[in-house]
This record gives sequence, structure tokens and C-alpha cells, in this order.
Amino acid sequence: MNPITNSTIKRKTKKYRICNGASPLRILITAGPTREPIDPVRFITNHSTGTMGYAIAESASRSGHRVTLITGPSPSLKRPHRTKIISVVTAKEMFGAVKKNSKLSNCVVMSAAVADYKPKKYFSRKLKRTKEIRNIGLEKNPDILSWLGENKQDKILVGFCMETEKLLKNAKRKMHTKRTDLMVANRINKACPPFGTNRTSVVILGPDKTELRIKHATKKYIAGILLDKIEDLWYKKLQN
Ligand code: CTP
Repeated sequence: MNPITNSTIKRKTKKYRICNGASPLRILITAGPTREPIDPVRFITNHSTGTMGYAIAESASRSGHRVTLITGPSPSLKRPHRTKIISVVTAKEMFGAVKKNSKLSNCVVMSAAVADYKPKKYFSRKLKRTKEIRNIGLEKNPDILSWLGENKQDKILVGFCMETEKLLKNAKRKMHTKRTDLMVANRINKACPPFGTNRTSVVILGPDKTELRIKHATKKYIAGILLDKIEDLWYKKLQN
């Protein structure tokens, strides 16, 4: 496997663009965090800002693809160019929107950071911190990407994997169990925090065990490279 760094990667000429004959993708992208309400004041969430997913949507729509973006709360981001936006809050709402909109898509990119658990029930009054809040109880949210993998048909599926340790081992496992074609592995560390910054480092795992390392690049740049990979897979499917 050749580790490729930014200095060696040049974005390929867009030989597969729709202006050259290939049909556009109907691409569904999820982005941002989900929020799981506990009571009128509190919720469970994570640090995702949605920047990566929005960058992928922007890159895809500027390349001529038909893009739908299902987004969790990401108030600071600009709407991507010519993109259908569906706003959701909870993992359940995101799952419903994915089920509805993935039917007609030929590629789904799950870059959202879905909260894995939600409170067992929503309390309509504010819980008191002394005892009540400690006893809310949690239940599992649906694993949306696994559902997509089980109902894959001929879709291209792209997953993301964020880890503090054993990055590649976990990313390969998730790629296999969630049946994705591509997996973007993102290490979380102090030197390159993945949340709220414009730059990050990733390894893109592809079919045939390919590993493409991109170090400290802008999310816009990584989105462009990922889109190249998606288009390569799409073009191969069209030829078969
Ligand atoms: N994912 C999802 N639904 C969930 C959790 C995750 O669709 N309930 C998707 C994410 O959007 C991502 C991929 O699964 O594309 C991997 O997410 P990650 O948080 O890295 O892994 P988990 O499956 O949640 O496993 P763990 O938290 O144990 O690492």
C-alpha cells in the first residue's frame, strides 16, 4: 500500500463529469450531529459541526450531481449550492428521512455523527438535578448506516469512522459490517482535532483494500478527493 500525502495527490481531470456523457449521481448526504432531547432544557449530542458533510454536498452539486442533504442542527454553516436540504433534529428523524430519500439515490454518504443513545422517554417538565436527571435511562438509536448496508441494492455507500485508537482496524471492521464501498477514517487527536476546524487528516479505505492517506488538508479538499473516488466507482458500475 502506498501512503499518498497531499504533495503527491493532484485532483484528477474530471473525465467522468456529466458533460462528458455519464449520467449524474442522485447523491444523498447526511451531516452534522443529532440531538436527543431529555427535557425542555437538556439534550444529548456530540461535537460534530457538519462542515465535512456540507463540503461534500457543495463539491457534488458543483460537479453537476443531484444532491439531497439531510442535516442535523448545524446553524453556522452556509447552505450548499443547489442542494435540497432536509433539516432534522433526532436520530429517529434522520433515519426516517434517509429511508424515504435513499430509495431513489444511487449513492449515500453517511457523514452525520448520529447519537448512539437517546433517553428512554422525554420529560415535558425540567428534571431536577439532584436525583431525577441521574435516572433517565437510555435506549439505543437505530444504526442508519447498517440499515443502508442491509438494503444496499446497487447503491454506493460511504461511511465515516472516528476513533481515538486502533483507527484502521476499527475502520476496516465497520466497512465490512456496515457493507460500505468507501470508509473515511478520521483519527481524533490534539494535533488535528476533527471538530470545528477547517482541516483534518483522514485515510480513505476503498474496495480491494486500497488506503489513501490525506494529511492535514482542508475539508473542501478532502471532499473533492472523496467525490473523485465515488465517481470512479459510479463510472465502473455504469460500464458493467
Ligand atoms: N452511524 C449511523 N447510525 C448510528 C451510528 C453511526 O448511521 N447510530 C454511521 C455514522 O454516520 C458513520 C458510521 O456509522 O458513517 C460509523 O460511525 P461511528 O460513530 O464511527 O461508529 P459506531 O457505529 O457508532 O460505533 P462506535 O461508536 O462503537 O465506534
